[in-house]
Amino acid sequence: MMEKPEELKLLDEKGYRIDGRKKYELRKIDMKIGVLKNANGSAYVEWGKNKILAAVYGPREIHPKHLQRSDRAILRVRYNMAPFSVEERKKPGPDRRSVEISKVIRGALEPALILELFPRTSIDVFIEVLQADAGTRVAGIVAASLALADAGIPMKDLVSACAAGKIEDELVLDLNKEEDNYGSADVPVAIMPIKNDITLLQMDGYLTKEEFLEAVKLAIKGAKAVYQKQREALKEKYLNIISEEE
Ligand code: CDP
Repeated sequence: MMEKPEELKLLDEKGYRIDGRKKYELRKIDMKIGVLKNANGSAYVEWGKNKILAAVYGPREIHPKHLQRSDRAILRVRYNMAPFSVEERKKPGPDRRSVEISKVIRGALEPALILELFPRTSIDVFIEVLQADAGTRVAGIVAASLALADAGIPMKDLVSACAAGKIEDELVLDLNKEEDNYGSADVPVAIMPIKNDITLLQMDGYLTKEEFLEAVKLAIKGAKAVYQKQREALKEKYLNIISEEE
């Protein structure tokens, strides 16, 4: 989050945001499932200007072997940003930010998986950000969750996610890059809707306690809308397969 230039208005007099959205409106989201031939499961998500690919391998034999658990599978997650995904070229390879994001995404996904079914194996999730425009961790969670379902990994629920934040003294849903840079807070949330569980909750910036609780509620509402889209995308793929077989 950066100091906002005096002349930049993130909300106009009519309450519209710089990309034309209303306060509680999501960016456009498109999801495609099964886009990579060599992965066990995959998904591609365009969320606003974010472009994110997720690939799942496993359950498979673990290397190195000492990581093996005799009672369950282990889940490994790598979130990576392509060097060309941001305005200023990102140095290739892991940095503090991507290590942290990989860790929180892993924590967001793990409660949904029934890992005890696959002892001694690993399930590996790769999230590649091809183009970034804020909200890549929530979009990455959404893509990864679809890829896990596509891989046929038994899950208690799909994990969905969305962020809310604060710009110009107002709470808004799903910040874009300018809003993330010049706004005053960003609250990414991931949920498993069936049980009403929150599996990721972070906050960057400044909010009062009341604003924080409102932002969480708003992000959950956003994530529930995204969840419906995830279900539709999965149905669309599998209904197509069934109709091709008939
Ligand atoms: O992407 P997300 O909002 O989950 O994480 P963030 O750390 O709050 O990053 C916000 C945005 O900053 C990213 O989505 C990118 O658009 C941008 N960014 C960048 O331009 N260069 C980086 N090295 C890292 C992030």
